[in-house]
Amino acid sequence: MKALVYRAPRDVRIEHVADPRIERPTDALVRITSTNICGSDLHMYEGRTSVEQGKVLGHENLGRVEAVGSAVDRVKVGDWVCLPFNIGCGFCENCERGLTGFCLTCNPGFAGAAYGYADMGPYNGGQAEYLRVPYADFNCLVLPSDAGEKESDYVMLSDIWPTGWHATELAGVRPGESVVVYGAGPVGLLAAYSALLKGAHRVMVVDRHPDRLKLAEQIGAIPIDDSKDDPVEAVMKLTRGVGADRGCECVGWQAHDPEGHEHPEITLNRLVASVRATGGIGTVGVFVPKDPKSADTLMQQGKLAFDFGAFFTKGQFMGTGQCNVKAYNRQLARMIHVGRAKPSFLVSHHLTLDEAPDAYRHFDARERGWTKVVLRPAAA
Ligand SMILES: NC(=O)c1ccc[n+]([C@@H]2O[C@H](COP(=O)([O-])OP(=O)(O)OC[C@H]3O[C@@H](n4cnc5c(N)ncnc54)[C@H](O)[C@@H]3O)[C@@H](O)[C@H]2O)c1
Ligand SMILES: [Zn+2]
Ligand SMILES: [Zn+2]
Repeated sequence: MKALVYRAPRDVRIEHVADPRIERPTDALVRITSTNICGSDLHMYEGRTSVEQGKVLGHENLGRVEAVGSAVDRVKVGDWVCLPFNIGCGFCENCERGLTGFCLTCNPGFAGAAYGYADMGPYNGGQAEYLRVPYADFNCLVLPSDAGEKESDYVMLSDIWPTGWHATELAGVRPGESVVVYGAGPVGLLAAYSALLKGAHRVMVVDRHPDRLKLAEQIGAIPIDDSKDDPVEAVMKLTRGVGADRGCECVGWQAHDPEGHEHPEITLNRLVASVRATGGIGTVGVFVPKDPKSADTLMQQGKLAFDFGAFFTKGQFMGTGQCNVKAYNRQLARMIHVGRAKPSFLVSHHLTLDEAPDAYRHFDARERGWTKVVLRPAAA
């Protein structure tokens, strides 16, 4: 089959690779009809991870079940399914508690497994014609009858909408509160969207890309351009000098200033400064245990110059980590089904798999108008 393969930094190619097959009786094989390029893929694309050459990328996958193993009961051939980017077993201590982003079975020696991702186990991704799905009964979200029609909405359930929602859960967002989101990439936009769905009275989104900030405004958030204004002062002005009730970090360790110089601690410290005393912060932007290629000597060892003194003095709390997609995807799917939510508002491009290497280039450059790419490897 055809698949997008990682070769070297900024070198991904469409190659012919071996077809995946049912390896264990609990597996399913899914024909991928939609698969997104994610900001997380860009960390690998830019050579900032230890992802191995030859890995098929792609962890935001949706498609139709092509075949199932003999121990798969619930999922049937032909079902439309959306796959959480995390691979869970369903029976380990963490999966049992709903913490499927930290499965103890699927990537031995590490808490958490995913498709097509550095350090997340031996699983290939779904930027390909077919995907092998382990523990299929547990991992597949079977979609309702409008799956084909609303495919671009449902595919956002594989990662970025639950992740945006997770940021608001970790921060403790409640109706009537104010929220500041750092980062207006797909995750930040969907964190803002989630906060608004939860009834936040004011949501502020910080970034510097006009197209992304415009999308934030279109969904009802207040855009803050940090290349023009100090975002902490802007939030203070909008919250009577108190700070936002909650904050979401949706950028990660490659956070930079508008000129492009990386400052891995900048968003966290700005969150501490722009969230009120006793407020909550949800950090879903990725931070890594080490990054030898970082220009920041602390970050090379995974450390940060974090304003812990201010964080402590303000009595704030913070939740972090990968999103447990299965904890939210079923409920969020219902909101799509009844028309209450349309997370595809941020999709800028629907492309073929062959166009993927080019799409990586544009998305990586955060070119104007490239907010989210959905690839269509196979026909429904
Ligand atoms: N925790 C999880 O489960 C999970 C899941 C998906 C993605 N992620 C991570 O979330 C982060 C965002 O993902 P994305 O797909 O939206 O990526 P993206 O790269 O498209 O978006 C990041 C945005 O942050 C902005 N930014 C950079 N520095 C900033 C700063 N100092 N202040 C404000 N904004 C700044 C960029 O301009 C960009 O628009 C990435 O780190 C990604 O790996 C985490
Ligand atoms: Zn993703
Ligand atoms: Zn598990």
